Amino acid sequence: MESVFDPYTAKALLEWQVELGATDAIADMPVDRYALADKAPKAKAAPVAQAAQPIAARDPVAVAKAAANSAGSLAELRAAMEAFDLCELKKGARQLVFADGTPDARVMIIGEAPGRDEDREGKPFVGRAGQLLDRMLDAIGLNRASSVYITNVLPWRPPQNRDPKPDEIGMMVPFLERHVALAQPDVLVLMGNISCQAVLGKRGITRLRGKWDQAMTLPVMPMFHPAYLLRQPQMKRQAWADLLELNAKLEGQ
Ligand code: URA
Repeated sequence: MESVFDPYTAKALLEWQVELGATDAIADMPVDRYALADKAPKAKAAPVAQAAQPIAARDPVAVAKAAANSAGSLAELRAAMEAFDLCELKKGARQLVFADGTPDARVMIIGEAPGRDEDREGKPFVGRAGQLLDRMLDAIGLNRASSVYITNVLPWRPPQNRDPKPDEIGMMVPFLERHVALAQPDVLVLMGNISCQAVLGKRGITRLRGKWDQAMTLPVMPMFHPAYLLRQPQMKRQAWADLLELNAKLEGQ
């Protein structure tokens, strides 16, 4: 069927739909798939020896644990995550967002999940929230080039930046645990509720922030997420107090 749009408009419309999270192409006309199913020749069952184990039969957390624990370096962990195909988010994302900064830094920051800019660039915290994060770190003399390592709980962008689901978080936690074990930071900084959920097993950032906790054998500092601080700039005062607390810990250790 001939398109009613010129090629430029059609391309812009297509890009817009991808931005909205559309992942499947559909036809111009509705298709009655029940009628098609009746006409279709019955598929022969695959010989048992050739049938791959169906995805639903695999326990994503167990598969993730085995893959993560077999990684002996950050490069191997990244490859294991690239190969992990049980998380639905992977299908809608442009690429895996693994980490940024200095892998042997004393401070490891854990965010939530990539947004649009991170999905495009393949690095965590490069959008507006990331720019604020960089300014916050700079205020206590930290930066990605020499003193901070940054990753996210989820390495793939959720469609329309929705909150990650508990099962998505659960199956990516083994990779995060291995990431922390391989990077060996002195302290973890958790940005927002999703990372508190993944690392500490609890939410309630207003109550948790600013107080040292313990997880993965390390001191953990929960803080307001920079995206939240962009929406609620009056909360920057608390974030500044938390940064000072982090700085004091680093100087005291
Ligand atoms: N928010 C996050 O939590 N992580 C990013 O990488 C970007 C925005």
